[in-house]
Amino acid sequence: MTKKIVTDLNVSNKVVLERADFNVPMKDGVITNDNRIKAALPTIEWLLEHDAKVVLFSHLGKVKKEEDKEKLSLAPVAKRLGELLNKEVTFVPETRGEKLEQAIKAMEVGDVLVVENTRFEDIDGKKESKNDPELGKYWASLGDLFVNDAFGTAHRSHASNVGIASHLETAAGFLMEKEIKFLGGAVDQPVRPFVAILGGAKVSDKINVIESLIDKADKVLIGGGMAYTFLKAKGYEVGQSLLELDKVDLAKSLMEKAGDKLVLPVDVVIADDFSNDANTQIVAADQIPSDWEGLDCGPATIDEFKEILKDAKTVVWNGPMGVFELEAFAKGTIGVMKSISELEDAVTIIGGGDSASAAISLGFEEKFSHISTGGGASLEYLEGKELPGVASITDK
Ligand code: 3PG
Repeated sequence: MTKKIVTDLNVSNKVVLERADFNVPMKDGVITNDNRIKAALPTIEWLLEHDAKVVLFSHLGKVKKEEDKEKLSLAPVAKRLGELLNKEVTFVPETRGEKLEQAIKAMEVGDVLVVENTRFEDIDGKKESKNDPELGKYWASLGDLFVNDAFGTAHRSHASNVGIASHLETAAGFLMEKEIKFLGGAVDQPVRPFVAILGGAKVSDKINVIESLIDKADKVLIGGGMAYTFLKAKGYEVGQSLLELDKVDLAKSLMEKAGDKLVLPVDVVIADDFSNDANTQIVAADQIPSDWEGLDCGPATIDEFKEILKDAKTVVWNGPMGVFELEAFAKGTIGVMKSISELEDAVTIIGGGDSASAAISLGFEEKFSHISTGGGASLEYLEGKELPGVASITDK
């Protein structure tokens, strides 16, 4: 990696500002998945072992109005972090001002402090999200060094990542380093055959990544809701399945460009209702009745994908193969996940988002080389875009 990493810094006795991505799912003030907090631990622990004072910044959700603040405080995150670190973590419910400054001044070596949600600064003029230069400068003035470990936010150019980095010596944390190593390695120097599997609901969300992976991968397997727009482009009727009519021509041109690289489902699980107790059938992909909808890939498709995957040396997967949240339509996603997890000799990467949640919730977490913590960030990285959060890290 050409960028500095945290081990390149001399952090002893320094106030180290760290940007983490603690944007975790919450329900009624309770964290429902703490993976992102866990993924941030190695860097925080390294900083503590090397006698730093650690000041953590993160956003949580989108803060548009004063009322949003109550449910989007980082207080529960600071509490959970304290439990995971097994030490006291100070939470300052402010994003600027004397209280925050005094709390940082009072820190001793080995202390950890969490600053309130950086997007509270968005209420008055989107200062965080528009990378207000004064805000980045102010936050940078609170510390000596900056560590950016927030890969999940690296596609944003905000005050708490790019802004702070423009004023302080900045290094990547271990999570950021790992994400770049795996995702960057896969797209820039994949060991071949390189198979990409793309699913999820909409073609429109994935156009750039499909185009980029058609260029880079040896095979691109398509599943999930977006497969129906491709099937329609092939001239098949797709009944009530998810369809983006305005993307059918685009799907056609992607298929022409990709030739036999692009592989579509050959059979699908159809249902007469979007529910777990709907009537279901398995039909060939060109036999969907007009009043039924496709909600998962069928067994012949899973077999075909498995056959293609068996020789793969690099696999990147983004997006579920069906409506895996409903048990009746989870087999496609589980089947693909199993096929990937059985590859002994391949680098296997899940590119964040729903497929990462599916892998973790279905117990496959340990079976992949890497599960990205980034949703949008990993997609943009796979598209080949430069991420501002990464670009702003100091060069070695
Ligand atoms: C994410 O969850 O993808 C990141 O934390 C970025 O969040 P954002 O889309 O609200 O900027």
